[in-house]
Amino acid sequence: MKPLRIALTKGRLEKDTVGLFEKIGYDCTAVREKGRKLILPIDGGRIEAVLAKANDVITYVEHGVCDMGVVGKDTIMEMGGSFFELCDLGFGRCRFALATKKGSPFYGGYGVKTIATKYPNVARSYFESKGMDIEAIKIEGSVELAPLLELSDGIVDIVETGTTLKENGLQVIEDIAPVSARVIVNTVSMKLRQKEIEELLNLMEKNK
Ligand code: PRP
Repeated sequence: MKPLRIALTKGRLEKDTVGLFEKIGYDCTAVREKGRKLILPIDGGRIEAVLAKANDVITYVEHGVCDMGVVGKDTIMEMGGSFFELCDLGFGRCRFALATKKGSPFYGGYGVKTIATKYPNVARSYFESKGMDIEAIKIEGSVELAPLLELSDGIVDIVETGTTLKENGLQVIEDIAPVSARVIVNTVSMKLRQKEIEELLNLMEKNK
């Protein structure tokens, strides 16, 4: 039988997931000592780990070339897609928030507000739910720069410790949604390999 293939979001979520697999008792030496390799066996090859960027984890799972994936709820909220979201792993915890420069009022005035963000869909749907039209400007990183440079009135971004905001004179004015790592599963894999997937999900759930 082919190994179950699981796409892991490179970086912190990858490390936390490997920690969880080790807690289950799986040998993760190959991933720990991976060098620049991107596809690695776990527990002697019963699982195959694929290391990818967050958005790509969703793409690989949606297309069924990976059976499962571990990805942040932030990416799921931004990208959407058709797959099952089956388990909250509890790590990678942070939150989506609306932030502005300290002391600058966000609401009020007549113009359409501009929001800089790596997550334009999340920003748009948040303000849509408040019945408010905004202009979302896509930024690739260090979004905190945008209000400082007066490109935008505010940002919608993930906040973990709040240090980046604080050190740049910004403040949270509204919390939008909690974020943490989730396990996603391809819809066809879920049918064809249900038993194996459920066994793994149970082990992950028990050991998280
Ligand atoms: C994220 C986020 C904030 C920062 C929040 O950025 O976009 O900038 O972390 O963390 P904090 O509340 O603990 O300070 P990331 O480090 O992923 O880099 P990027 O902005 O270049 O994407």
